[in-house]
Amino acid sequence: MQPTLDYIKQIALDAGEILQQMSGGELDIQHKSLKDLVTRADRAAEDFIIGSLRKGFPDHTINAEESGHLAGETDHQWFIDPLDGTLNYAHGMPIYSISIAYAYQGELQLGVVYDPSRKECFSAELGAGAWLNDQPIQVSRFEDLIDCMLVTGFPGNRWGQPDDNFGNFLRFSHKVQTVRRLGSAALDAVYVAAGRLDGFWEDGIHDWDIAAAGLMIREAGGVVTNLYGDPDFLKEPVSMVAANPIIHAKMLAVLAEERQTRSIP
Ligand code: IPD
Repeated sequence: MQPTLDYIKQIALDAGEILQQMSGGELDIQHKSLKDLVTRADRAAEDFIIGSLRKGFPDHTINAEESGHLAGETDHQWFIDPLDGTLNYAHGMPIYSISIAYAYQGELQLGVVYDPSRKECFSAELGAGAWLNDQPIQVSRFEDLIDCMLVTGFPGNRWGQPDDNFGNFLRFSHKVQTVRRLGSAALDAVYVAAGRLDGFWEDGIHDWDIAAAGLMIREAGGVVTNLYGDPDFLKEPVSMVAANPIIHAKMLAVLAEERQTRSIP
């Protein structure tokens, strides 16, 4: 038996309720590393999501941000970020989301990204489309970088290294309308699916951050690869470039230019 999109949506909505209720309370913040936090809310939402999935699908494999890899049937795989944008959440910034994706035999089938602050539920099903709440969504149609609003994030553990993303940020900033940095990779990417933003790139991320959004962008007419143009964007080391087909090709070219300048392989 395979899960349905409605089943995942309900779990994401309920997990969103948990995050909203705990927001502003005692978060018991702990540092996973200097710039990476975990709060009581991350753990509570993840426990709820995994507990709910285990009821319906006790034997599936799960990759979740706080619990790591929970081995199970390899045909059925889940990618869970219970709170994408933990830093925003911990600072009281209402830009965070829950991301849940399901893959069968290595192919993404279902994805949900829920923003509880705006009550926006982005979802997608392989071959059926992508939606914001119940409305179909599409990537934007711009063809020139100068018309585009891009978005990115920075790996917190690479400051001062050639691949810290500041070179890319500067290079794109000269070529596009503007570049945003919102702090939730899942929301960044689903905003591309919805045509609110025109392109997303980020290196040093995790499959649970962007699996659901990757499916959504494809179902919304976009192209998704890693930074080197490989369509298998969940392959380690995980990275993502996403946009409509024309802008995606232009973004890959800019990223390759920057790698050449910095002698990054
Ligand atoms: C982080 C956010 C951030 C991105 C980081 C992610 P988390 O996820 O998505 O925007 O730049 O790479 O790790 O830790 O808040 O779930």
